[in-house]
Amino acid sequence: MLTGFYPSLRLRRLRQNDTLRAMVQETRLTVHDLILPLFVEENLNQRTPIASLPGVFRETETSVIKTIGKAQALGVNAFIFFGVSHKKDSQGTDSFTSGGILDRVFRRVREACPTALLIADACFCEYTDHGHCGPLSKHGDVDNDGTLMNLGKQAVTAARAGADIIAPSGMMDGMVQAIRAALDAAGFENTPILSYASKFASCFYGPFRDAAGCSLGAYEHARKDRKTYQMNPANAHEALREAALDVAEGADMLMVKPGLPYLDIISAVKREFKMPTFAYQVSGEFAMLKAAAAQGMLDYNSALMESLLCLKRAGADAILTYGATDAAQILRNG
Ligand code: PBG
Repeated sequence: MLTGFYPSLRLRRLRQNDTLRAMVQETRLTVHDLILPLFVEENLNQRTPIASLPGVFRETETSVIKTIGKAQALGVNAFIFFGVSHKKDSQGTDSFTSGGILDRVFRRVREACPTALLIADACFCEYTDHGHCGPLSKHGDVDNDGTLMNLGKQAVTAARAGADIIAPSGMMDGMVQAIRAALDAAGFENTPILSYASKFASCFYGPFRDAAGCSLGAYEHARKDRKTYQMNPANAHEALREAALDVAEGADMLMVKPGLPYLDIISAVKREFKMPTFAYQVSGEFAMLKAAAAQGMLDYNSALMESLLCLKRAGADAILTYGATDAAQILRNG
């Protein structure tokens, strides 16, 4: 690595001014890297702020169109959707019924925003009354294979309604294979799968659970955490096995989640598989930036941009972030 030694070699030579620094910059964040998550709630009169995620709203089925338009005006053109259902049941049926919330949201947005890239988060926690990511077995744990059957239906429902990409996030064994088979059987062989391949059982999802209304606890016998399906934050080798399995099952893109506390995983997944690799800057990461900024401890714009750049440096090709529109505005302002 060393091409000399001090005093003949001085690395500060290339840091002397903006132009030179920009020329030797190794990683760049662009507006094409950004994906904006959106919460859409049914039967809502007006968009409602989410207390634990300052600046983020539960959108109505119409206000979401305007929010997408604002992001698009700044160059953000990829969106991932979370439905907030008022018809929850033990299976999350509302997410795979024709006329259900997922079906409606994608049909409306598809029609109103024909050029936007629409990603469906394929999971059940926002649609089940117990808040778990699939139907429960009698032991109160998520029934893996029962979930796969429903996942296939949910993926096809979203694709039919206009979703461009299906992103399974439930960490069920076999989820990519099940979704690929269901999509292909329904004629959606060109719909890519973005697998949340290495998703950890993280406390950083806290604000999301408020936002999407998917807390656990309603069922006496149900498990009170997601540790039987989401991964142990201590495990890096297992994260690679998870990703390898999803690649073998036909995933087109891989995701690591959360983002900043898991940079080593992003880096390892990118290096190992050389696949399009996405990172999710999750609700808790975003809330920390906002909270620190509100207290005057950090500058929000700088902290947001640095954290996104570092996710890219680690190996992320694209980033899901609640700050996507803010970041696009900052990029535009220079
Ligand atoms: C599950 C899902 C979750 C998030 C995205 N998809 C919640 C969870 O796994 O508990 C969290 C995103 C965030 O915290 O911003 N459908």
